[in-house]
Amino acid sequence: MKLHARRRLAPALWFAASVLLLAAPVRGDAAATYKSKCAVCHASNGSGDTAVGKSLKLGDLRSPAVQKQTDAQLIAMISDGKGGMPGYKDKLSADEIKQLAAYLRVLGKKK
Ligand code: HEC
Repeated sequence: MKLHARRRLAPALWFAASVLLLAAPVRGDAAATYKSKCAVCHASNGSGDTAVGKSLKLGDLRSPAVQKQTDAQLIAMISDGKGGMPGYKDKLSADEIKQLAAYLRVLGKKK
C-alpha cells in the first residue's frame, strides 16, 4: 500500500521540480527585458527616478495606483502604450509582456 502511494507521488514531485526549474530562468528573463526596455524611463527599481522619468513626470510603478490594476490591465497598458509611453506589442511577444506584468508585481513587493 505504501509503495503504491509513493509511486503515485513521484510524477507529482517530478512535475513540481520541473516547474520550479523552468520558472527560475523565466523570471530572470523578465528582469533582463525590464532592464533593457523599461528601466531607461522607469528606473531599474520601478521608481521612475531617472532623467527621462523625471522629464516625463513618471509615477512609481510600485505605487498602489499601478499595483491595484489587474494583470490584464497592465498587460494591455504595456502592449498598447499610454500617453508618453510607447506600446510594446510589436517589439515583445505576448508571453514576454505577460512576464513583464508579473515582474512589476515583484518590484511592487520590493518597496
Ligand atoms: C520612453 C519612456 C518609457 C519606456 C521605455 C517605458 N515606459 Fe512605461 N510609462 C511611460 C510613461 C510616460 C508613462 C505614463 C503614461 C501616462 O499615464 O500617460 C508610463 C506608464 C507605465 C505604467 C503605468 C500605467 C498607469 O496606469 O499608471 C506601466 C505599468 C508601465 N509604464 C510599464 C512599462 C514597462 C513594463 C515598460 C517596458 C516594456 C515601460 N513601461 C517602458 C514611459 C515609458
